[in-house]
Amino acid sequence: MSGVKIAPSLLAADFSRLADDIARIEEAADWLHLDVMDGHFVPNLSFGIPVIESIREHTRLFFDCHVMTTNPDYFLDELSGAGIDLITMHIEAIPDPEGPAKRTRDIGLGFGLVLNPSTPFAGVAPFAELCDVVVLMSVEPGHGGQEFIETVLPKVEEAREWVENRGLATDIQVDGGITPETAPRAVDAGATVLVAGTSVFGADDPADSIAELRRAIESR
Ligand code: DX5
Ligand code: ZN
Repeated sequence: MSGVKIAPSLLAADFSRLADDIARIEEAADWLHLDVMDGHFVPNLSFGIPVIESIREHTRLFFDCHVMTTNPDYFLDELSGAGIDLITMHIEAIPDPEGPAKRTRDIGLGFGLVLNPSTPFAGVAPFAELCDVVVLMSVEPGHGGQEFIETVLPKVEEAREWVENRGLATDIQVDGGITPETAPRAVDAGATVLVAGTSVFGADDPADSIAELRRAIESR
């Protein structure tokens, strides 16, 4: 086993039947990735607290909440109340993440920082020790179904080296454009969590497409 976690992104599910779609991946997935968008930090709207609260009753999966909003710490307590386990915030939205990280920890949630494709790892390095997970976007945030941006790979290597040099267990998550072709490359570079929306929920059998991602990773 590679130990790599697969986190299907709910953004690619059928919003008219979320509980059913989640049930289809419940056993196969490790985490459920929840993309919250405000139409301001990113050019799209998705879903928010009431939706997360509703689906919480239908699954035991770990909720990995990726907040793409201008004030990502604004709804921290509400998101926690809705049942998320981990919150990840963009460094571009909170240039000084120490306060939000501490408040997140104080209420018992995991904390992570996310970097857009054009943000260098150096932008987050001073704060990486605050993180349970560092997220490297491999697409521009805002939409599913985009192509994997190759230039994330050296950044994943840089993040992996940073974590290993310090003997930390920080997860390195790669988000966007993950397929059986790109997954092994992200893992080779050092990723430990892969977020996959379209390639999982867009398939006829989402659980099978998770198994396919795992096979691609194992046989690399
Ligand atoms: C993009 C989101 C991603 C997206 C991934 O803003 O953060 O999590 O849902 O979707 P795919 O796998 O379709 O690129
Ligand atoms: Zn995401």
